[in-house]
Amino acid sequence: MKTSRLFTLSLLCVSALIAAPGEKQKQNPAIQNAYKTGDETAKTLLKTLGGNLKKHIKTGGPADALTFCSTQAIPLTQAVNGKLPKGVGVKRITLKTRNPGNAAEGKDKAVLQALQMLNKNDVRLPGRLLRDNGDSYTYYKPLVINKPVCLKCHGTQIDPKLKAQINKVYGSDTATGYKMGDLRGAVVVTIKK
Ligand code: HEC
Repeated sequence: MKTSRLFTLSLLCVSALIAAPGEKQKQNPAIQNAYKTGDETAKTLLKTLGGNLKKHIKTGGPADALTFCSTQAIPLTQAVNGKLPKGVGVKRITLKTRNPGNAAEGKDKAVLQALQMLNKNDVRLPGRLLRDNGDSYTYYKPLVINKPVCLKCHGTQIDPKLKAQINKVYGSDTATGYKMGDLRGAVVVTIKK
């Protein structure tokens, strides 16, 4: 009886220790809200861009989809931003840009470099990360090359005609050479407190 009680007690202690960090985070409503806003905002942007990309690939093939991406990705991102609550913003970042406007800078770059290091060493990346900046949060959703279709425009063997079309629009494209599972970039959501 005594030993089993002791056993239960130590088990409780151990589970309390294990549960502690997660529980603490769960109890903080501000952090919970930031994660929720980040999840929803990133999903909206990815759905908007990804849904349209899929539609164009299906109807007009990669060339048509490329024209769509190069002319609509930024205006569509701006449109999504226009509908977000005050103090919330969304963008895409990368270490190897096609559109130079999406280049990761400062702390964003450091976060992507850390994720890249993990990715290169076969570590499964977290679905989301959150940075506390004092007066705001920065939410990151890592973007991995997760569909073979991504390789058509970002892979190692891009159709020469398509590559020519890419080079015509983007003089300094570096967003090629990716393989399935590679980190491509991240969706970043900034949330003012
Ligand atoms: C039809 C060609 C095409 C396909 C397929 C494609 N992309 Fe892109 N991608 C582009 C173009 C063009 C841009 C630059 C325009 C923009 O989005 O600002 C781009 C930009 C990006 C960016 C922003 C960073 C940068 O370099 O400007 C990310 C992230 C990205 N693509 C990820 C993906 C992922 C993940 C997939 C697969 C689900 C994918 N792309 C499929 C053409 C494509």
